[in-house]
Amino acid sequence: MIGIIGGTGVYEIVELGEEIVYKVVETPYGPSPEMSIFQLHGKEVVFMPRHTLGHAKPPHMVNYLSNIWSLKKMGVEKVIATNAVGSMDESIKPGDFVVPHDFLDFTRMRKGTFYDDRTVHIDVTEPYCSQLRDILISSGNVIGNGVYVCTEGPRFETAAEIQMFRQLGGTVVGMTGLPEVILARELEMCYSSICTVSNYAASISPSKLTIDEVFEVVENKRKDLIRILSDSIKKIPSDNLCECENTLDGAEVDNFLEPEDL
Ligand code: HPA
Repeated sequence: MIGIIGGTGVYEIVELGEEIVYKVVETPYGPSPEMSIFQLHGKEVVFMPRHTLGHAKPPHMVNYLSNIWSLKKMGVEKVIATNAVGSMDESIKPGDFVVPHDFLDFTRMRKGTFYDDRTVHIDVTEPYCSQLRDILISSGNVIGNGVYVCTEGPRFETAAEIQMFRQLGGTVVGMTGLPEVILARELEMCYSSICTVSNYAASISPSKLTIDEVFEVVENKRKDLIRILSDSIKKIPSDNLCECENTLDGAEVDNFLEPEDL
């Protein structure tokens, strides 16, 4: 099963599909948003509205644990996420699409793991699934790598923050990519993101940043994004060339002291 995590404007992918059913699942982290399950190109797809329907939850309030747990519970093995971002590279313009290959995590208040009662250290040398990235990159006119910087939000960044992120190697900046990518990997799902560049980041943009500008560009690129998603779903093979499904092998610390030894 394939999962699509959508922000604004991506719901239209559901309308391309057939046999749509709606479902809410319970998780240890609270109920999921209402998901739409549908058939597209002979494949079963689940659409997860990240912010719940109607863009109700701001990025720092999204229940990332419930969202990812719900997709796993539905039987999803591969997740394509969509994110809006600001560009920190003058050559990457509003309206471009970027498929990041790595991230820098500058979130501060989000719970970022499922493993509180077991000691699990997963490898994230390559945090996004290489196979899913290749599929997205071959499905449209996209920039095939970049470092995604995730901020806590909900405010936009200061000029000094953007300067710092650029010096650290950041390419684009957004508020929704983390901890989602990590949580998917912790549950051994493949995960890749396609980012719509909605603006130049603070201080690179000649004007004040507004959310209206972000929504306007995302809306203008909606049809292109839906086409890339649809073509990618068509191309996803049933066999895996990546290691995402074996993430937990070698990641967990064994309890080498049995309780009676203590
Ligand atoms: N900064 C953070 N998040 C964003 C931006 C930005 O410039 N644009 C869209 N999401």
